[in-house]
Amino acid sequence: MEKIEFLDLGQQPITNNFLSNEAPQNEFLYNLRVGYDQATSLVSLMEFIPPIKMFNENYAHRASQSQTMRKAYKELSDNLKKKFKPKSILEIGSNDGVFLKNFNNIINVGVEPCKNLAKITNKIGIKTYSEFWNYNLSNKIINEIGLFDIVYSANTVSHIHDLEDALYSISNILNKNGIFILEDPSLLETLKKVSYDQFYDEHAYVFSIYSLNKIIKDIDLEIFYVEKLNTHGGSNRVYFKKKFGNQKVSNNIDRMISEEKELGINKFETYLDFSKKIKNSKKNLKNLFNIIKDKNKKIIGYGATYKSSTVLNYCKIDKNYIEYFIDTTPNKQGKFTPGTHIPIIDPKDGMNETVDFAFLGAWNFRKEIMNKEIKFIDRGGKFITHVPNPRIL
Ligand code: TYD
Repeated sequence: MEKIEFLDLGQQPITNNFLSNEAPQNEFLYNLRVGYDQATSLVSLMEFIPPIKMFNENYAHRASQSQTMRKAYKELSDNLKKKFKPKSILEIGSNDGVFLKNFNNIINVGVEPCKNLAKITNKIGIKTYSEFWNYNLSNKIINEIGLFDIVYSANTVSHIHDLEDALYSISNILNKNGIFILEDPSLLETLKKVSYDQFYDEHAYVFSIYSLNKIIKDIDLEIFYVEKLNTHGGSNRVYFKKKFGNQKVSNNIDRMISEEKELGINKFETYLDFSKKIKNSKKNLKNLFNIIKDKNKKIIGYGATYKSSTVLNYCKIDKNYIEYFIDTTPNKQGKFTPGTHIPIIDPKDGMNETVDFAFLGAWNFRKEIMNKEIKFIDRGGKFITHVPNPRIL
């Protein structure tokens, strides 16, 4: 792959490296740069971070934390059961089992390299392999359990550096008429929303349908349907079948690819323009914070997301701007944000009358959060977002 760099987001930490110490020594930082591949139009990080630095027993993200996500997974599992009547399902990146536990009456198997998470699902009776997904593991599971009717993977394939191996191994473990469902952030939405915080250590790739289609050319997989989702700030749910599988190929794929091409997803100049917009976004967000700070108002962060780590570190927004973050995830509380060292506390302790502004780290849950924080809004509290452009809501 011939990647050409179009974006430099500066020195960045490991987004999952929530710190127990406010002034850590030797914090790992690397230069986050993003590139474009002419042949496949694939957008990826210029330099990949060793997986073990990111996906280990300290992994903080819990998929079941959000009500929106719990509901979405329940709905999806009901639909899949109705439509495909699977007898077996494998999830790659099963996290804390929020999706797989909806399939307790069929063979449901997880793959989750983060040991703390695999422990949770093994405990509730979902057989979980705590290993990285690759060809060897696919063969091991085939030997021990067999082939699968459905392979599901949300926000995981975009993390796997050897993409071709990952997809080949999925095709390997699927039944003849099996389907693979991939869910990952959409490059189209990232471009439209200037949500450059989709780029961080874990997101080795941000996919378009156009690029996925090119990558599977030599693999026994074919896209037969695509759904647009609101999750994670705009994602695609892409359904694949085997080339001779019996599912009908929808004409919505051509439509989606046309939409992507209209936005110039397959042209390098689009990314140079995107890069300019990102520089502007940084300037405008910093200005906004400075104006609010000059008025001596208190700003906190709402949701210490992985995504926000890219924004804070790129825009150099630290404790001088954001007093603390609130986050519902217990194992983020009491820690400090990576790179910028802002304390993270329980919302119960931090969402009080002294707060004037809350920067939406979890902008992807804007609706859920604004519904929940009516009291804050009613007394004049305001939210700040950087998506699609920095502003007060
Ligand atoms: P997530 O959407 O997974 O983003 P990322 O993948 O970029 O980390 O994270 C959402 C975070 O926001 C998670 O840490 C929980 C937190 N959160 C709250 O603290 N309060 C809320 O009301 C919601 C919806 C999320």
